Amino acid sequence: MNYRVPRTRKEIFETLVKGLQRLEYRGYDSAEKGEIDGNNNEDKERHIRLVKKRGKVKALDEELYKQDSMDLEVEFETHFGIAHTRWATHGAPSAVNSHPQRSDRGNEFVVIHNGIITNYKDLRKFLESKGYEFESETDTETIAKLIKYVFDNREIEDITFSTLVERVIQQLEGAFALVFKSIHYPGEAVATRRGSPLLIGVRSEYKLSTEQVPVLYMTCKSRSPAPGGNIESVNNIRKPRVQRLDSSTCLQAVGNKAVEFFFASDASAIIEHTNRVIFLEDDDIAAAAGGKLSIHRVKRSASDDPSRAIQTLQMELQQIMKGNFSAFMQKEIFEQPESVFNTMRGRVNFETSTVLLGGLKAHLKEIRRCRRLIVIGCGTSYHAAVATRQVLEELTELPVMVELASDFLDRNTPVFRDDVCFFISQSGETADTLLALRYCKDRGALTVGVTNTVGSSISRETDCGVHINAGPEVGVASTKAYTSQFISLVMFGLMMSEDRVSLQDRRREIIRGLQSLPELIKEVLSLDQKIHDLALELYTQRSLLVMGRGYNYATCLEGALKIKEITYMHSEGILAGELKHGPLALIDKQMPIIMVIMKDPCFAKCQNALQQITARQGRPIILCSKDDTESSKFAYKMIELPPTVDCLQGILSVIPLQLLSFHLAVLRGYDVDFPRNLAKSVTVE
Ligand code: G6P
Repeated sequence: MNYRVPRTRKEIFETLVKGLQRLEYRGYDSAEKGEIDGNNNEDKERHIRLVKKRGKVKALDEELYKQDSMDLEVEFETHFGIAHTRWATHGAPSAVNSHPQRSDRGNEFVVIHNGIITNYKDLRKFLESKGYEFESETDTETIAKLIKYVFDNREIEDITFSTLVERVIQQLEGAFALVFKSIHYPGEAVATRRGSPLLIGVRSEYKLSTEQVPVLYMTCKSRSPAPGGNIESVNNIRKPRVQRLDSSTCLQAVGNKAVEFFFASDASAIIEHTNRVIFLEDDDIAAAAGGKLSIHRVKRSASDDPSRAIQTLQMELQQIMKGNFSAFMQKEIFEQPESVFNTMRGRVNFETSTVLLGGLKAHLKEIRRCRRLIVIGCGTSYHAAVATRQVLEELTELPVMVELASDFLDRNTPVFRDDVCFFISQSGETADTLLALRYCKDRGALTVGVTNTVGSSISRETDCGVHINAGPEVGVASTKAYTSQFISLVMFGLMMSEDRVSLQDRRREIIRGLQSLPELIKEVLSLDQKIHDLALELYTQRSLLVMGRGYNYATCLEGALKIKEITYMHSEGILAGELKHGPLALIDKQMPIIMVIMKDPCFAKCQNALQQITARQGRPIILCSKDDTESSKFAYKMIELPPTVDCLQGILSVIPLQLLSFHLAVLRGYDVDFPRNLAKSVTVE
């Protein structure tokens, strides 16, 4: 939203489309943009125009310019446009299901939404009974209709836009980040969130009135009607008592000068415009109008902070650009020598063999006293927990449970006050992981976040944490975040064992191993051509098994996940110890199988598995250490890796599988960064 910053419609389109493109990795079944009133002092165009297109953002961009009667050069001083890219939850990807959803054919209210409204069926039934006609299958449309219902039934003529939104969200259950626009409130925008991320970027050439936006509290009657139930009482609410909006309660440019506000679910969408952002908390309602931004809420927030600070992000635009690589995923694989270094930077002292994770320091005593560690995540983040479980058990001498967040919740797993629960998440927004976090918090456990996103929900809601510092990850298939999560957990183990006399030699060995990792990763990356050649042999196959055990079992799970995600081949990570209990039946001359065999305590057992495979005419492609002369005798093909400390070997062994999945996907003709049906950050349960 720009205030006193003249922009042509074309420029506004470009800002929106570029923002969507930066977000495209998060969900991309369809893209939409609401073109909204230009309130060019004289209320020139008080209407809302919607443009929707199924497919990539590029398709939307082209569609915008095809529109007749869209004067691209017309200039607006105050203007607000909204745009959205959707990962379908309710309703198939299609133009009608894409956002903005609208209240009626006149587009009186429009809304864009991330998340899921779990009680939308009740709300829809209620609204239908009141004569509202629905056009889409989405849960979001109920929000657009509901706000119009509240507006149509308002008891005060001059009800504010944010009061309407406040009443609407009291009826909603589930997760949401919402941005509203209305023809009744030209030049105004209202945004709110619960459970899904939302931030506001602020840009102005002038000094800002405040760096801490105060939160204004609304007072209402104590009732909060059962969502979807006694909905008619939405207006049974006292006139909100909100302090007068003046420069001490709002954010604005001093002297009411020009300012722009950007609402986004992810900083990457706005970072080229500003790195100054405010992260909203659950149930905050932010309203922008007339160059002023105010934040309201009904109840005290969980953090109990009476203001929202403007934070300066360190992210650079360049970090989210592809550079010379053909895909973000490829770029991110090749960034790993630097990203693992950044994870350790300033934390591992290689001279004194000490590790300090600043974000955990204050809670270290409490963590050391705990009864067990529970490490929780989804997808790749879960694999990072599997990969480090053994070394954590060894270094902390505590029982370590690793858990898939969804399963952990399904089981109502017992959690106690003296448990320490880790939540591993690249995005810091995965709904399953976030719910598991709240579950553990409610039971009094100490919660620790391990995320890659400053200001994310998980990083804010945990008691303490580690930022993995891998830099923005755009490719849906996670790569550099995995290796940095791995290292972060190893560093935690090292920090915990600092005083254990019996573990000092082992600690020094691991720390030396960490120091040499960036160089060794470069060596592994130099195998790229060889892996490409292997992909040429494999890309027409339907299946690919990946087998290993011990420290490298996680590599098999993670390698198989990469292959599934982006090549759509069937792939399974198999624990070599389980081979004889079932998977051996799959083995024959045709079935491609990759075996990860490293010089570690499982080496002899892996040799047994290898024998069992070759005895059934299997043709194993072996990922092994370059000093391994034994496995080579049985290998159909070999990829030789530099050896490192056993518990860190998984960082090196996963990289050839990342590269292999990338080459397979390219050869099969798929879009590596945008695998079908998947999203980078799954903010729905
Ligand atoms: C999605 C992504 C996966 C990712 C998982 C967990 O499913 O497609 O690549 O591993 O979420 O994401 P998180 O951000 O919590 O690490």
